[in-house]
Amino acid sequence: MDRKDFLSQVGVGAAAILIPACIGGLASCKKTSSTPQNVDFTLDVSSGSLTSDGGFLVSNGVVVARVNSSTFIAVSAACTHEGTTVNYVANSNKFHCPNHGAEYNSTGVVTQGPATQNLKKYNAVLTGTSLHIFS
Ligand code: FES
Repeated sequence: MDRKDFLSQVGVGAAAILIPACIGGLASCKKTSSTPQNVDFTLDVSSGSLTSDGGFLVSNGVVVARVNSSTFIAVSAACTHEGTTVNYVANSNKFHCPNHGAEYNSTGVVTQGPATQNLKKYNAVLTGTSLHIFS
């Protein structure tokens, strides 16, 4: 392998590593427009993704996650870096942005950049199978 071939292969490899996970629709990186204000809605947790621990969904611009049968958490869905919808990571009880890797703890506080601002935390109160999410 000559120098030109080596640099060509290294360059391709480095470029592949630097490509964000969301380019070209290869991964699911949805955008959420903004941080919702005056949030007030109710979810039925008797069916769907909130029936099991670690399940989560996005509703009204809010990520709602089930930590366990009596504990639910809710934060604004839009990553504060560039607005990609964050995911809940159950085994570490945190939120992760699939676009550039920002992470937030369970209350929405940034724990890893590039994001520098926290997600907004909302109240989540369970009554029977009705989960009330509000500001
Ligand atoms: S959009 Fe979330 S880390 Fe960049």
